[in-house]
Amino acid sequence: MGDILYHTEVVLAGLAPYVGFHAAMRFYEFESRRIVERAGIPVTKYGFCTTADQARKIAEEIGGSVVIKSQVLTGGRMKAGGVKFADTPEEAASHAADILELEINGHMPKGVLVDPKADVAQEYYAGVVWDGTRKCPLMLFSDMGGIDIEEVAD
Ligand SMILES: Nc1ncnc2c1ncn2[C@@H]1O[C@H](COP(=O)(O)OP(=O)(O)O)[C@@H](O)[C@H]1O
Ligand SMILES: [Mg+2]
Repeated sequence: MGDILYHTEVVLAGLAPYVGFHAAMRFYEFESRRIVERAGIPVTKYGFCTTADQARKIAEEIGGSVVIKSQVLTGGRMKAGGVKFADTPEEAASHAADILELEINGHMPKGVLVDPKADVAQEYYAGVVWDGTRKCPLMLFSDMGGIDIEEVAD
């Protein structure tokens, strides 16, 4: 158990024209999850909330270790202290309280995502952007996911 689990980061800005949002809009992680879910792709049993108390309840429902993730439209959240692991619902609430107050790159979070903690064997990067020249979505995929993947140009 656990050795084939992975964490995939999804950037879905390119799907904006298909899901009815303005084309220039970027998505919060919890919104991306909902879009992926709606497309029939399995996602983790995550929850989105705006208070520490709700984060505690979601962590209770998930059971086991969770990750509390700041919902901001910027990357580098972990390095900024906006992604934290919790082993108990109390710890989840305490991290959520801190993260909800934390400004990252000039952004205050819209809330936090509470996600089951995956036993990560390998991280991948998958993103969809709009190719303005070809007028179609362009999918980017890399087996070099993880911290600072956004800085990897080639
Ligand atoms: N559900 C999860 N389970 C285990 N580890 C996670 C989970 N979500 C994120 N992580 C870890 O936290 C790191 C940062 O999360 P990520 O979503 O990439 O945010 P950011 O890139 O903004 O720091 C990931 O690279 C991964 O190692
Ligand atoms: Mg990342």
